[in-house]
Amino acid sequence: MRDAKPYDPKKDDPMSVALTVASLAVIGFAVLILVSGELSQRLGLSFPGRVLLAGLLGFGVLGVAIKAAILLSLQSTDTLASVVTAVETSVPRAADRGVEAASPALTMQARGMAWRTLPATAPAPENAELVELGGRLFFDQRLSADGTVSCASCHSITDGGGDDRPTSLGVAGKTGDRNAPTVLNAGALTRLFWDGRAASLEEQALGPLTNPVEMALPSLDHVVAIVAADADYRARFKAAFGAPPRIETVVAAIAAFERTLVSGNAPYDRFVAGDDAALDDRQKRGLALFDEIGCRACHPDPWFTVAAEARANPYRKFPVFAATRLPDHYDLTADPGRNGTGTWRVPSLRNVARTAPYFHNGAVDRLEDAVRLMAEAQLGRPVSTDGMARIEIRRDAFGRPIVTRDRPLTEAEIGDITAFLHALTSDVPTITGTAITP
Ligand code: HEC
Ligand code: HEC
Repeated sequence: MRDAKPYDPKKDDPMSVALTVASLAVIGFAVLILVSGELSQRLGLSFPGRVLLAGLLGFGVLGVAIKAAILLSLQSTDTLASVVTAVETSVPRAADRGVEAASPALTMQARGMAWRTLPATAPAPENAELVELGGRLFFDQRLSADGTVSCASCHSITDGGGDDRPTSLGVAGKTGDRNAPTVLNAGALTRLFWDGRAASLEEQALGPLTNPVEMALPSLDHVVAIVAADADYRARFKAAFGAPPRIETVVAAIAAFERTLVSGNAPYDRFVAGDDAALDDRQKRGLALFDEIGCRACHPDPWFTVAAEARANPYRKFPVFAATRLPDHYDLTADPGRNGTGTWRVPSLRNVARTAPYFHNGAVDRLEDAVRLMAEAQLGRPVSTDGMARIEIRRDAFGRPIVTRDRPLTEAEIGDITAFLHALTSDVPTITGTAITP
């Protein structure tokens, strides 16, 4: 719904829809009789000819009325209301902007599609020993060229699952050119890395160990040698796999640990589960806007990314609207993404308030700036202060013309969406096992 107005029985009543259709049909017939009389005189038609003409035109009108009735009744009252509201608010009064927005009384049922949530507690791992082994490897700084960097150096479990830097610091203070995404909930993703180049956590974990700016070990054999030199590891691998460590089992253990880093039970989840007080009014308006303007299409619940949906394409063009200013401003178009195609794996927005800075190059510091950029670059909805509706023909990144008649977003609405994203922050997942020093 455009402004997510409260349900208005006068506007939304299906009976009034039926009445409108009926009166349209009556007016149609009246016009028809006049026109057919006029027409048949001009054409000099005989009486049977007149009857035939009136009959043909009549069926036409009747057909249109029936189609209209069917179409209208198929639409939900919700959509009808939004059409009415869209017309009414296309040039909003200043007083309406941002202030009116969604009613705090908004409930889940207000939307056609129910919001999905994660379970309040993560499932207990099937193999606790394996998970603990993986946790030890995850926090082990010996798995780096100079003994100073572990997975946890760049992926702090207690601090949102990433680091606070635009690009991460690896061995000897070297940096790469991409931001460290969170490892929290990464087990849900069908593709990993910003450009989605890894298909599993196991495959992903092979990367940093030998990456020259991350852990910089000379080879995967070195990784195995370091692990195998430790008697405690040898015993744990024997227990978990019945064999000495191999690179396949090293990354399998790390991945098993990562899969336990599930963080549900955010205020959003509690709201969906029925706790109306879990979100404040701004967050409720933000939730409605997140859906209405289209963020939810690429960042669908419960994981807030398409890249967690089994059969969905995890990649999206970024920026979609090529002629926008913000992506260039933040130098986000220099890196061509997945195989140079300008597409990126859609990241999850869970815990996003804790994973600043944002985007693949970490160039955007504030969450509201990231939201503003997304609205402009992915949805063609720039933010303006005058709030005037515009009709425009633009071209998307594929060169296709798109006619837009959008009310620009207001700063207040960007604030509401940002407030909603804060409701996706969960508690830090509990790390199973002992003697792990983060
Ligand atoms: C020097 C910092 C650094 C270290 C050390 C590091 N990572 Fe990362 N990690 C990154 C960066 C940067 C990316 C994104 C790289 C890209 O997308 O090209 C990343 C990506 C990931 C991802 C993908 C997340 C997603 O949303 O796609 C996972 C999972 C991950 N790392 C786990 C690990 C594990 C496991 C280790 C240890 C074996 C590790 N990382 C070590 C910086 C680091
Ligand atoms: C067409 C798909 C699409 C739409 C629509 C979309 N996003 Fe995104 N979003 C992406 C992609 C792709 C990225 C990763 C961009 C990059 O850094 O390369 C992303 C990244 C983000 C990030 C940064 C995440 C991080 O960890 O750095 C935020 C925040 C975000 N989106 C929020 C939103 C909001 C809010 C909306 C609605 C205004 C929205 N997105 C609409 C595809 C989309």
